[in-house]
Amino acid sequence: MATERTLSIIKPDAVAKNAVGAILKRFEDAGLRVVAAKMMHLSPEQAGGFYAVHKERPFYGELCQFMSSGPVLISVLEGENAISKNRELMGATDPKKAAPGTIRADFADSIDANAVHGSDGPETAAWEISFFFSQMEIASRPA
Ligand code: TYD
Repeated sequence: MATERTLSIIKPDAVAKNAVGAILKRFEDAGLRVVAAKMMHLSPEQAGGFYAVHKERPFYGELCQFMSSGPVLISVLEGENAISKNRELMGATDPKKAAPGTIRADFADSIDANAVHGSDGPETAAWEISFFFSQMEIASRPA
């Protein structure tokens, strides 16, 4: 087992529902630790930069609009297998296909307004964390 870091975003739909605390509690209950966090209201350009990997996909424009439609809570989660653990907690991209008890099953409304983002692998996690946070903004617990 490896201690990893992953980037989480609580998206505008879940922030609007006042579900930030409930979602962070799921991470903490699963053994993940919040080592950096900030609330931001992204511009469409910032959202577009973050999701640049999807720029050829048909949903890219709507995704950028949605991600800039209200405040988001961006955090770095740290823990054993943090990347896959967070993906398990999130559930499938489409909440209709998400397993019961997952964040998306419980908080998401649709495949586009789907409550949370989580990095999908180690390289993506490193890139996504550095997109939003400097090294000084990440505070790990002393070993
Ligand atoms: P993706 O990386 O496939 O999913 P995940 O967030 O589970 O890693 O897609 C990124 C986001 O793009 C997804 O969370 C919501 C949005 N999206 C749509 O709006 N429509 C779609 O058909 C897909 C596949 C994704």
